[in-house]
Amino acid sequence: MRRGHPYHSLTPPVVRSATYTFADTADLVQFMEERMFSEDLERQEYGRYGNPTVRAVERRLAALEGGDDAILLSSGMAAVTTALLIFLSAGDHLIVTADSYHKTRVFVKRFLRRFGIECTVVPPGDLQQLEAAIQPNTRLILSETPTNPFLRCVDLEAMASLARRHGLRTLIDATFATPLNLRPLEFGIDLVVHSVTKYLAGHNDLLAGAIIGRDGITTPLRESQSLLGAVVDAEVAYQIHRGLQTLGLRVERQNANGMAIARYLESHPRIRRVWYPGLPSHPDHDIARRQMQGFGGVVSFEIDGDGLAASRFIDALRLPHTAPSLGGVDSLVEQPALMSYYDTDPEIRLALGIRDELVRLALGIEDTADLIADLEQALTHV
Ligand SMILES: Cc1ncc(COP(=O)(O)O)c(C=O)c1O
Repeated sequence: MRRGHPYHSLTPPVVRSATYTFADTADLVQFMEERMFSEDLERQEYGRYGNPTVRAVERRLAALEGGDDAILLSSGMAAVTTALLIFLSAGDHLIVTADSYHKTRVFVKRFLRRFGIECTVVPPGDLQQLEAAIQPNTRLILSETPTNPFLRCVDLEAMASLARRHGLRTLIDATFATPLNLRPLEFGIDLVVHSVTKYLAGHNDLLAGAIIGRDGITTPLRESQSLLGAVVDAEVAYQIHRGLQTLGLRVERQNANGMAIARYLESHPRIRRVWYPGLPSHPDHDIARRQMQGFGGVVSFEIDGDGLAASRFIDALRLPHTAPSLGGVDSLVEQPALMSYYDTDPEIRLALGIRDELVRLALGIEDTADLIADLEQALTHV
C-alpha cells in the first residue's frame, strides 16, 4: 500500500460525501468501464458502494488479519448475518458451536429457519461430534474462539482440515481474540468476523463489524453489501482507525490483566472455579497455548455462593462498571444469568452451564494492582 494520504495528511481524511460527482459523461463512462475490471478503484460512485475513509480502515483490518480483503459493516451482528445470508441458500445446513454469542444462535435458529436453512449445534472443541453432524447439504461451519462466556478454544487447524475434506466453508468469529492474539486465516480458516465494537475500536463508543478473507472469497460479500445496506459511516470508520492505532498497547495490557486476575481469582477461597484459556486448569489450555499469542482480557468465574452473593460482589466493585460488552478501555462486569440470559428458560440456561453465581469480567486497561485491590475488597462482600 502507498504511504501517505491526500493533502499530505498523516491521518486518513474523513470523506463525508454520500455521493460522488463526475466531470462529464465521458468521465462517467470511463469509470463504469474501469469498474467492470476492478473493484478497488481510487474513486467511488455512491456512498453505499464505497467510501475512501472506510476503505482505508478496511485495508488496515485486512493487513492485521493477514487477509486480502476486509469489509466493514455497521455492527458485529451485521457481519455475522451478512456472511450467513450470502454463503447459505434455502435447503442448506450449517453447524454452529455452542457457547457462542447468544444473538448469533438466535439468528441461526429462528431467522434462518424461515428461509429453509437448518442448523445443528455441537459443543465447541468436539471435532468428532462436529464431523458426525455433517450432512450431504452442510455448507458451513460457524464457531467462535475463544467462546463466550467459557472461553472455549477451537483447534482451528483441525477444524479447517476437516472442513476441507468435506468441502465446507469455515467462518470464525474471533472477536474475543483480536488479530493480535489469533489469526484464524493462518490456520486455513476461510473467513473471520469481528465485532469491531469490542477490542478493535476499543472505547465502547461505536458499533461496527468486519468480515475478512483471502483469495476473492469476500467478493460476493462486498457485492451484497450495496444491496443489504449495512454500511459504516465515514466518521465511525475514522474512530475505528483511531482505535486501531493503540490496539497493540491495549491488548498487551488486557492480556496481562487477564492473566494476573485469572491467577489471583483461582487462588482465592471465595471463588469456586475460573475459566481463562491462559490457566493450565482451562479445558482448552493446550490448544490456546499452541495457536494464540495472548489469552485476552475476559475472565469468567463462579463465586462460592449463590446468585445473590455474586450480585453483592458485583455491586461492591468500584472500578468495573456493570454493563454488557467487552474489549474497551474500561473494565466491565456482568452476571450472564441477569444479562444475555435473563429471558432464557432457567432449565435451558443451566443446561448451558450458566449458573446464577457465574460472573464475566471483561478487563480494560486499568492498572493491574488497582484492579486486584478492588476485587479483594469486593470479595469481602460475598
Ligand atoms: C463474539 C461476538 N460476536 C458478535 C457480536 C455482535 O457484535 P455487535 O454488538 O457489534 O453487533 C458480539 C457482541 O457482543 C460478540 O460478543
